[in-house]
Amino acid sequence: EAAEKGGYPHYMLKEIYEQPRVLENTLGGRLSEARAGVELDLRVDPTRFERVHIVACGTAYYAAWVGKYLIEGLARVPVEIDVASEYRYRDPVVDERTLAIAISQSGETIDTLEALREAKRKGAGTLGVINAKGSSITREVDDTLYIHAGPEIGVASTKAYMAMLGAMAMLAVWMGRARGTLPEAEARTFLGELRKMPRLVEQTLEKRQEIAHIAEKYHQAADYLFLGRHIQAPTAYEGALKLKEISYIHAEAYPAGEMKHGPIALIDERLPVVVLTTESPIYEKTLSNIQEVRARGGRVIAVATEGDLEVRRFAQDVIYVPRTHYLLSPMVSVVPLQLLAYETAVLLGRDVDQPRNLAKSVTVE
Ligand code: G6P
Repeated sequence: EAAEKGGYPHYMLKEIYEQPRVLENTLGGRLSEARAGVELDLRVDPTRFERVHIVACGTAYYAAWVGKYLIEGLARVPVEIDVASEYRYRDPVVDERTLAIAISQSGETIDTLEALREAKRKGAGTLGVINAKGSSITREVDDTLYIHAGPEIGVASTKAYMAMLGAMAMLAVWMGRARGTLPEAEARTFLGELRKMPRLVEQTLEKRQEIAHIAEKYHQAADYLFLGRHIQAPTAYEGALKLKEISYIHAEAYPAGEMKHGPIALIDERLPVVVLTTESPIYEKTLSNIQEVRARGGRVIAVATEGDLEVRRFAQDVIYVPRTHYLLSPMVSVVPLQLLAYETAVLLGRDVDQPRNLAKSVTVE
């Protein structure tokens, strides 16, 4: 087993460190800056549908949420996202102009499979964004986009999430180009940034020591709050999910702008608040949310873009991540949150790879 972990103490840490290579595999040979497009080799016709429904569970659901911003942003198609256990029982409005996408690492999650079947029964075209080759979902969809993350052993998903984000970025460009909503020059810039992503993710791994230090500072906290806006809202939710899954610290995530409608009541000097505040068109808005936290004594851990000195005035701790296109910022920003969860769980002596009550894939309802 030690050999399988490649010298790492846990599978999860090994898988976190595999992310740059994994992303290279996901994107591998599929990006074409010359043609300002993405080659996905799918039978689905990206011009045929009028709406997209994405269903998934757990971490894959947060990839769906990121995917919504990417697809709506670049391809201007309305996207609805649902946790699969809700979708399958809500009698969704679906027709043949709907593309239903199921995102799943295992391809075996029963709720995701049943949600997909529901969309299919109602006439939707179907696409799987899947890691496991030949898994149940891949056998029922019209088409599969494999994410090529390799086997993931740690129950808390890390590298599969990264690969899902890469796949959603490619799908968004693919749809945007085919539908004529994404101009060539813009596509080229975006693809250039996407191609750099494995290297940028690699750089974020260098922050491990710094993050271990922050984990040390706050590992006795009873609760954590994670905040983010727009495409970084799902990053906040994924950060909170990772922390609660493996450290058992209660963690809540919220869209930062919505904090004033509830969670602000929780803030005091004992509450660490992680805020995703990377560069984006709404950067200033998030900065003012940080000030609201600070004014109430909260401890702010900001995840910010390299070179942002302003944020230092309001946050006790700043974890810098490399600059990229704001629609790609979740990829560089989730890594510090994975490491924060990991280091915290290790400090608390938790079973990182086999957290209590959780299963790697949930095949019963
Ligand atoms: C379980 C796992 C999660 C995973 C979720 C969905 O809850 O513990 O890590 O995100 O299932 O799994 P899937 O295989 O469908 O991506």
